[in-house]
Amino acid sequence: MKRLLRGIFYAFGPRARRVVRRLAYAPVDLFLVFRHGGRPTYNGLPLPLPGEIFTGGGDFLENGLIFKEHFQKLGALKPQESVLDIGSGLGRMAIPLTDFLVAPAEYHGFDVVASAVADCQGRITSRFPHFHFRHVSLVNDLYTLEGASADHFVFPYADDQFDFAWATSVFTHMERAEVQNYLREARRVLKPGGRFLATFFLTDYEALSSARGGAYEFSVQRGEDWYMSWEVKGANVGFTPKNVQQWAREAGWSEARIYFGRWSGRSGETTDFQDIVVFS
Ligand SMILES: C[S@@+](CC[C@H](N)C(=O)[O-])C[C@H]1O[C@@H](n2cnc3c(N)ncnc32)[C@H](O)[C@@H]1O
Repeated sequence: MKRLLRGIFYAFGPRARRVVRRLAYAPVDLFLVFRHGGRPTYNGLPLPLPGEIFTGGGDFLENGLIFKEHFQKLGALKPQESVLDIGSGLGRMAIPLTDFLVAPAEYHGFDVVASAVADCQGRITSRFPHFHFRHVSLVNDLYTLEGASADHFVFPYADDQFDFAWATSVFTHMERAEVQNYLREARRVLKPGGRFLATFFLTDYEALSSARGGAYEFSVQRGEDWYMSWEVKGANVGFTPKNVQQWAREAGWSEARIYFGRWSGRSGETTDFQDIVVFS
């Protein structure tokens, strides 16, 4: 059922999808605003309402807080470090970090959806000027149909600018040449000793078999990569762990440590929903 609804949803274009979502969630949003006497907040910042959240399911604030912990435990993030948020969306990672990252350390985020960037600038930068958001015009068939290809995109930041970077639920919507480029670019903008945490759907044999028949079944194969929808390629994309580790080596990373997630229903220890890879 979940897969059928997802298929219907993907038949709309990216902008129309966001409108459909807002309409479908209007009663929930109204109820929340009524119950809280306004929007729920964190550290004085208003949070987006469920109908506005086009960046994935689950509890927006809770997920952000969980990743704040992952960044510290798995990525050794410290309050004085400068960070880069690749695909910053609606600020799910940025908002919980507003009471952690201390100026002059800087947060920089970029995203392909202009309205999301404007929203973060309005809600977050206005209160925390060391948080910067930037729109980049790149195409991604799940999020925007306008812009250049991301596979040769040069991040608009200097070499060695950051201590820590992340891409949460972003490479799960990008194709292999784009991810390979982003691994190289992340390496370039991080200082020596920098760490990069990214989430993936790692489609090894065990994950593909465990996910079969469920909401996260990858049914379309192209080469060694897996897609959930052929019509909307960015819908969800899976790569083998072996390929990701190989691309990491090619991009100059000496380590790519994998923490498997529970999305596929695989057995054994898991850390989060998606698989996490920490490049160092
Ligand atoms: C599932 S959302 C996750 C957003 C955010 N990282 C989070 O964890 O809440 C994926 C985000 O990646 C952005 N995105 C897609 N392709 C991108 C690209 N080539 N470069 C940067 N951001 C991209 C989308 O616009 C969207 O905001």
